Amino acid sequence: MSYQNILEEIEDHILTITINRPKKLNALNRETIQELHEAFKAAKTNDEVKVVIITGSGEKAFVAGADISEFADYSPKEGKRLAADGQEKLFNYVANFPKPVIAAVNGFALGGGLELAMAAHFRIASDNAKMGLPEVSLGVIPGYGGTQRLPQLVGKGRAMEMIMTAGMIDANQALQYNLVNHVVELDDLHDFVAKIAGKIMKNSTVAVSEAIRAINANYEDGVNGFEVEINAFGRSFGTDDFKEGTSAFLNKRKADFPGK
Ligand code: COA
Repeated sequence: MSYQNILEEIEDHILTITINRPKKLNALNRETIQELHEAFKAAKTNDEVKVVIITGSGEKAFVAGADISEFADYSPKEGKRLAADGQEKLFNYVANFPKPVIAAVNGFALGGGLELAMAAHFRIASDNAKMGLPEVSLGVIPGYGGTQRLPQLVGKGRAMEMIMTAGMIDANQALQYNLVNHVVELDDLHDFVAKIAGKIMKNSTVAVSEAIRAINANYEDGVNGFEVEINAFGRSFGTDDFKEGTSAFLNKRKADFPGK
């Protein structure tokens, strides 16, 4: 499929999706959100894809936010719809994606950009990255899950301060805040993330997918995560991957998971 605002590359079962509007610091307009949705939807059923890396083009920005020029004259009703559509099509879709999604944060990750990075399953930043939710400086609040996911990751007090001040933190502070898992030099970012993806892909894709679901259950209102875990654990015993993983261990050989 051809896209106007994103690039895709599959290498060694890793799909890298690059948001490609460098002149606008990769700001997310509606079309880009729709294209990202299509790309993730296609990746879901593409057996060649085992891990997704999401990043921004250029050396300056991951994503500098939602495209401000697009919503500057919206009414309250349109604003509400913008947030609801975006959350459904992209941010919740990524968070609940059944294959691992890693954000390679290669520069500014602001507003919707940080929200996208936070929707990914985890984040690796380059040392030039800067992160923040500056929406209140524009007279709005984060609308793509930022008020929910930031406190889950950094704690309520830090999230309150970041959102209320509209300030940015650098990569090392983000590491200290547990907002990102690692910080590496920009030139090493893709290889570093691909290396982690490689480690993930040695494991059972079915089990990894169930683990994503069970971990996410911890953050869903009204859902008992322990129950979700028990059910997913039980289901694992019915998979070919489980048979292969356990028999490989008992026979002192490396597992070759069929992914079923
Ligand atoms: N929406 C729309 N356009 C954006 C954008 C956004 N979120 N972020 C950057 N751009 C555009 C700029 O308007 C500019 O376009 P132009 O060259 O046509 O004027 C271009 O990207 C480059 O940005 P610029 O501001 O000139 O770069 P800078 O290095 O001076 O500043 C930032 C970088 C990230 C500090 C600054 O662009 C910024 O504050 N962006 C908005 C961040 C934000 O508030 N995001 C939350 C949105 S809800």
